[in-house]
Amino acid sequence: MHIKIEEAIQRLQRGEVVAIPTETVYGLAADARNTEALQQVFDTKQRPNTNPLIVHIASQSAAHSWVDDFLPLAQSLAEAFWPGPLTLVLKAKQDVLPIVTANQPTVALRVPSHPIALDLLTQSGLGLAAPSANRYTQLSPTRSEHVVAGLGVHIPVIDGGPCRVGLESTIVEIYEGADGEVQWQLLREGMITRDEVQAVAQQAPVTKQQATLTPGQHHLHYAPQTALMLCESREGMLSQAADLVAQSKKIAIMSIGEIEPIKGCHVQALPCKPVGYAQQLYDALHQLDHKRVDIILAEVPPNAMAWSAIHDRLARAAHSLP
Ligand code: TXA
Ligand code: MG
Repeated sequence: MHIKIEEAIQRLQRGEVVAIPTETVYGLAADARNTEALQQVFDTKQRPNTNPLIVHIASQSAAHSWVDDFLPLAQSLAEAFWPGPLTLVLKAKQDVLPIVTANQPTVALRVPSHPIALDLLTQSGLGLAAPSANRYTQLSPTRSEHVVAGLGVHIPVIDGGPCRVGLESTIVEIYEGADGEVQWQLLREGMITRDEVQAVAQQAPVTKQQATLTPGQHHLHYAPQTALMLCESREGMLSQAADLVAQSKKIAIMSIGEIEPIKGCHVQALPCKPVGYAQQLYDALHQLDHKRVDIILAEVPPNAMAWSAIHDRLARAAHSLP
């Protein structure tokens, strides 16, 4: 059910859930100070309560409602990348609800750059907890149609068009090490790369000794329903395709750049540059899922930092292969 921003604000203030566009993927939003509203997010997604939520805020200054100490390193990263696809995990204030943090001592914060998300945050005055608006372990939505297909027609959704980034935000944790030094570590790759974070942080990442739980990161995430096989080269992919077609398998091919039509295959050609590829990846996988093919063959992208988050999501998507 498509709704306008004014109705979304009223619903959110009443403690209801609304699917909203962000620049990364669509999120299923609720008031981050309302436990019952947040429980509806978990119920709608069928997501276990052990998985914490990202709180979306209107600006860097709103971070002080959620953390006591927005460390200078967090400030530098926020100034460089907010509003935008970077989530910062920091020690939470005492009053942040346990349903948001999944009882961990930290909270995840992000200022999204999608104008509708920013309008909602500014006009409602709320912090909005929003996981991706898909059922637990399924593909993230990058168009409002994906939300409706995944969560059902009764879900109120604001249509903000296709998401500009197309992959979930980069997650960086900022923490004080045993020696009191402030460190950072990468918890989830995204289109803001490790190198870009490091250039602003002016220090290399250090893995926390006591591992941080990121329950939403297990291998089943981000997977399409159809099995996906990664192919190291185009030649390899084409010969694999020929073998499978000979066995009467229904196959689809996801190429990087244009490719000649192949008899008996659905072909989905994705852009050659990482930004364009990321924008279209989930939409391509959603579409190929609908074709009900036996297997998707995907060309592996180049081995370069700009493709790193795409490698990560393709590897997860391929995990379901028996
Ligand atoms: O781009 C995005 O980040 C999107 C849009 C809607 O903002 N949101 C998103 O949310 O991807 P979700 O819930 O699907 O993924 C958030 C990830 C999960 O893996 C969760 O475990 C982790 O962030 N996370 C949340 N709070 C955390 C915390 N305090 N410490 C460590 N990981 C946390
Ligand atoms: Mg998700």
